[in-house]
Amino acid sequence: MFAMHPIGFVRCGYRDAAEIPRGLGASHQAEGVLEIESALAAGLTDIEGFSHLFVIWAFDRSKSVELLGTPPTDDRPHGVFATRSPYRPNPIGLTVVELLRRDGNRLHVRGIDMLDATPILDVKPYLSGVAPEKLRRGWLEDAENRARKGGTRG
Ligand SMILES: C[S@@+](CC[C@H](N)C(=O)[O-])C[C@H]1O[C@@H](n2cnc3c(N)ncnc32)[C@H](O)[C@@H]1O
Repeated sequence: MFAMHPIGFVRCGYRDAAEIPRGLGASHQAEGVLEIESALAAGLTDIEGFSHLFVIWAFDRSKSVELLGTPPTDDRPHGVFATRSPYRPNPIGLTVVELLRRDGNRLHVRGIDMLDATPILDVKPYLSGVAPEKLRRGWLEDAENRARKGGTRG
């Protein structure tokens, strides 16, 4: 077992999950603040140089686990580890955000897809070393192709 404590909380306008864009083509442009505990502010030293960050957070309002689920991006079920479902055995969320500016222990970011007051477990610089031509998008690519042909809800 691991004991984890939030390093801070998300501050944003989303109070209800229904407000967060979802489904094929959903774009996450919402701005918000990652408010890091002031006692940990020294850990943000030099973060300003990074354009994007990984935010690791807790789905603190998920009450169930679904090993197989149909995501809003498809009309077919997929395994939880092949999706970004909030209903996970370990309720951990991962979001890439754009760092707009730092104001002390507050990181102003764009790309929020979590609810207000979501606990933040960690923040790391986003560095991708995977060449675009090496990336495979699995079932999502199939769902996008079917939607383009008019067969899938968005
Ligand atoms: C599909 S998940 C993806 C989250 C993250 N980008 C990831 O891949 O882990 C995003 C959804 O999680 C739900 N959600 C957001 N914040 C949450 C929270 N604090 N607790 C439980 N569910 C949350 C909302 O329904 C939101 O649309």
